[in-house]
Amino acid sequence: MSSSNPILAGKVALVTGASSGIGEATAAALAAAGAKVAIAARRADRLVALAGRIEQAGGKALAIEADIARGSDIAGMVDKVVSEWGRLDILVNNAGVMLLAPTAEADLDDWRRMIELNLIGLIGTTKAALPHLKASRGHIVNVSSVAGRVANPGASGYAATKFGVVAFSESLRREVYADKVRVTVIEPGLVRTELGDHITNAEYKAGLDHRLATMEALTAEDIANAILYAVSQPPRVNVNEILIRPTDQER
Ligand SMILES: NC(=O)c1ccc[n+]([C@@H]2O[C@H](COP(=O)([O-])OP(=O)(O)OC[C@H]3O[C@@H](n4cnc5c(N)ncnc54)[C@H](OP(=O)(O)O)[C@@H]3O)[C@@H](O)[C@H]2O)c1
Repeated sequence: MSSSNPILAGKVALVTGASSGIGEATAAALAAAGAKVAIAARRADRLVALAGRIEQAGGKALAIEADIARGSDIAGMVDKVVSEWGRLDILVNNAGVMLLAPTAEADLDDWRRMIELNLIGLIGTTKAALPHLKASRGHIVNVSSVAGRVANPGASGYAATKFGVVAFSESLRREVYADKVRVTVIEPGLVRTELGDHITNAEYKAGLDHRLATMEALTAEDIANAILYAVSQPPRVNVNEILIRPTDQER
């Protein structure tokens, strides 16, 4: 841990999609700020390696293999955090996929996968965690996207899930503010991660690769810093939304 009196000391966080990219960087940042961090995703080997790095740096980590698109895994994941550490203060709903393609060529299995993970998985995780977050006066961070504010062609299915995350978060904020639970939506522009690797449409995959090659994209750490900022504010401050584009990105 970097400080003798870290700002998140005593807090317990759960970060989904922590095996790579934004989730991995966020878990490391929260742990460095003193939180105990549960890290969840499907690739257990990556989680174990990250937990090792966090522990080596003096932090506390708990690796949980979970498929957020499966309801039974979600319940088990939240139960594991609370049975291990007795509480939950910060939930970062980050796991997501982006399967770009124009609607006319949409593979409905891809669309279903996005909706089940990006939207239903996020809602299910929030529901499972909510009693614990109400008890701790906790904080929910939902990772949406610029695609949750600007709907571009070729991103109809993805944008539908991310607009959904924004709408869900605002509704949720109004449901839980009286319980002193805070809700933050993070809306990144283009970040250099593994997200594009799963695109099955060759044209859209090549288009994303070209954009990444010709601009200075954000880093996962840039987004982790924004999440750390939101969850480090005093209890009276509810940072509702942060939209961050690379300077080079117009839309
Ligand atoms: N990169 C960008 O430009 C960008 C921009 C805006 C928003 N975002 C959002 O940021 C979030 C993180 O993405 P990233 O860019 O960091 O991409 P990434 O490196 O591909 O990370 C995605 C994470 O989600 C996890 N995941 C995928 N399917 C899962 C499932 N069924 N169950 C549990 N975990 C699952 C992956 O782990 P496993 O494969 O090990 O399960 C991985 O840890 C996503 O919600 C994405 O939509 C990214």
